[in-house]
Amino acid sequence: NTIMKVGILGLGTVGGGVINVLQKNSASIERRTGVQIELVIAGVRDVTKKRICDTSNIKLTEDPFEVVNHPDIDVVLELIGGFGLAKELVEAAINNGKHIITANKALIGNHGNELMKLANKKQVRFLFEASVAGGIPIIKALGQGLSANNIESVAGIINGTGNFILTDMKEKGRDFDDVLKEAQALGYAEEDPTFDIEGIDAAHKLSILAAIAFGTEIQFSKVYTQGISKITTEDILHATELGYTIKHLGIAKRVEDGIELRVHPTLVSNSQLIAQVDGVMNAVMVKSDALGTSLYYGAGAGDEATASAVIADLNDIINNQTSNHILGWKSQEKINVVDNDAIVSEFFLRLLVSDIKGVLSKVTGIFNDHNVSIEALIQKQVDENKNAHIAITTDRVSTKTVMNIKKAIEASDFNQAEVQLIHIELLD
Ligand code: NAP
Ligand code: HSE
Repeated sequence: NTIMKVGILGLGTVGGGVINVLQKNSASIERRTGVQIELVIAGVRDVTKKRICDTSNIKLTEDPFEVVNHPDIDVVLELIGGFGLAKELVEAAINNGKHIITANKALIGNHGNELMKLANKKQVRFLFEASVAGGIPIIKALGQGLSANNIESVAGIINGTGNFILTDMKEKGRDFDDVLKEAQALGYAEEDPTFDIEGIDAAHKLSILAAIAFGTEIQFSKVYTQGISKITTEDILHATELGYTIKHLGIAKRVEDGIELRVHPTLVSNSQLIAQVDGVMNAVMVKSDALGTSLYYGAGAGDEATASAVIADLNDIINNQTSNHILGWKSQEKINVVDNDAIVSEFFLRLLVSDIKGVLSKVTGIFNDHNVSIEALIQKQVDENKNAHIAITTDRVSTKTVMNIKKAIEASDFNQAEVQLIHIELLD
């Protein structure tokens, strides 16, 4: 039998998962490829550390360059994370003629354009299925399964940690920090969890999805990015009362002037499928001209789920499938990303105001002054200070106008706190 020799950088959650799945499923993987996969060497920070996998047949090294310079290996799996050392290692491996598979969306978000150019020049594969939505084969779906289509939009839940937190806050009323700690213990969160909770991880992933869907360069720095750290129990309760669930979405959409690229918390109607996607699960909805709407659902993080995507890329390399070209990376252009101010959406606003006579008509007056219709309004008197919570949903309005409404309310004498402003998205 032919043997494919592989080196791994990193044996943490994902690297450990890869070894476990390769060991567990070696027979079925070999049946699909006709090739035996041999893990030759793995680079880690600490060779004495206890692992989730059996490493008895693999050489361990604390010098990661030993992996990328190893003369016997054909493929390097970059599962370290970050974009400093990881970039140096990937560049060295490509220059040594090795194919690259990575789960590292931060690396692609920041350096994907140049790394792909180098990989094309050196004629090696650069595959990254595991970098978006964990185990869901969304990159293969966009690049191969939907290759006959023009993609109109890609939108969904693309951060498992964030969805895990929002789900537990809603279902169990749990505290944000407690749930984050649990997500970290389960291996879902990034090394720096602010990447998850401030939307940076989702923005990395969205920039990758847009590149595959629309043939644009990676434009991570242009993604409008807002995280979930400011979502409160009050927001969740009010949204629930109005028939919505709060989800953290990434949205890439073709519009007349280019593309929208945005990541932010969003109210999704409970009747929409995405509202039912809970815990670490991710879901991506794609609208395309020939197929119409399609939905891709599965575990967005975790050891074996992510390993599933890494090993699928390895099998593609063995079977000579999924060229860099299929992924649309030989013809990227810089498509204009539209300014966030111009984006039109329905919105949810939550206010804390003094419960004085006529306050409601003053609030609605501000909306009238900006020519914006209110769809629904809930008012509750809440505390001993005679402050009232008001939740409002609007008709479709530009982000610029709704920001002006927010500013006008915050400048009013009856206002008691920063106005919460959240998109409402209609995904069907
Ligand atoms: P992790 O559990 O922290 O594992 C990182 C591994 O890299 C560890 O084995 C660590 O060695 C090794 N490492 C770190 N710095 C190193 C250095 N300077 N030299 C040599 N080895 C080094 O991380 P992970 O969760 O597996 O994530 C890996 C990558 O996959 C990241 O890019 C992440 O964004 C991405 N990803 C993660 C998931 C997930 O569910 N966790 C899902 C999709 C994508 P030691 O073990 O010796 O410390
Ligand atoms: N931290 C990431 C998440 C890992 O929670 O989605 C998967 O990319």
